[in-house]
Amino acid sequence: SAPTPVVVAIDGPSGTGKSSTSKGVAARLGMAYLDTGAQYRAITWWMLRQGIDPADTAAVAAAAEKPEIVSGTDPLAPTITVDGTDVSAPIRGAEVTGAVSAVSAVPEIRARITGLQRSIAEGAAASGPGIVVEGRDIGTTVLPDADLKIFLTAAPEVRAARRSGELGGPQDAARLAATRADLVRRDTADSSRTASPLARAGDAVELDTGDLTLEQVVERVVAMIEERRSA
Ligand code: DC
Repeated sequence: SAPTPVVVAIDGPSGTGKSSTSKGVAARLGMAYLDTGAQYRAITWWMLRQGIDPADTAAVAAAAEKPEIVSGTDPLAPTITVDGTDVSAPIRGAEVTGAVSAVSAVPEIRARITGLQRSIAEGAAASGPGIVVEGRDIGTTVLPDADLKIFLTAAPEVRAARRSGELGGPQDAARLAATRADLVRRDTADSSRTASPLARAGDAVELDTGDLTLEQVVERVVAMIEERRSA
């Protein structure tokens, strides 16, 4: 018989292995995958292209409903489009990364994107084995009734080394220090905003990924999902 659909929320700061873990778990179990950070990045990309200043809260809020944002949820080939344009590459650039915290702190933006996230999660739970949704506020705000909530952590040094490796190029001390500073700056902004900040849900399982390989983290989350399915 088909497995019971499960909705899994994976939250935590940048560089804790959220994306790799979420994709790995979803791929292992044939589930859908949603990268909610990519949605915030996509709407930020659109704002910048419109010439809207990310610091102009009123202008950002007024435009929140305008772009059409579509997420493809295959964990082996996730996609994201804005008004039909594939923005997978440009949303990872420095310009968007520098502006995304400001845009994602605007309540109208959060309301818009949260609505998209809930309808994607509902659709996936209604038509298959479920979905893994990764972000910052999934367990606390977007999907408070998720079947399983995971909160990933890791020391800033570990996270900076991982992020810096993803970005490529020389891995010198100055580069690492700059990456670490950028991570800490973004975490502080994401954790201290008033509209649904990055936070661990009371019923989330906290997992420090610092001393674990990606395989080990995926394995633990898969085991927790299977445990819940058989309960
Ligand atoms: O995971 P990421 O680095 O791609 O996320 C980009 C930004 O989006 C991050 O700085 C905070 C914001 N974000 C958010 O506010 N809520 C989420 N659920 C996911 C991301």
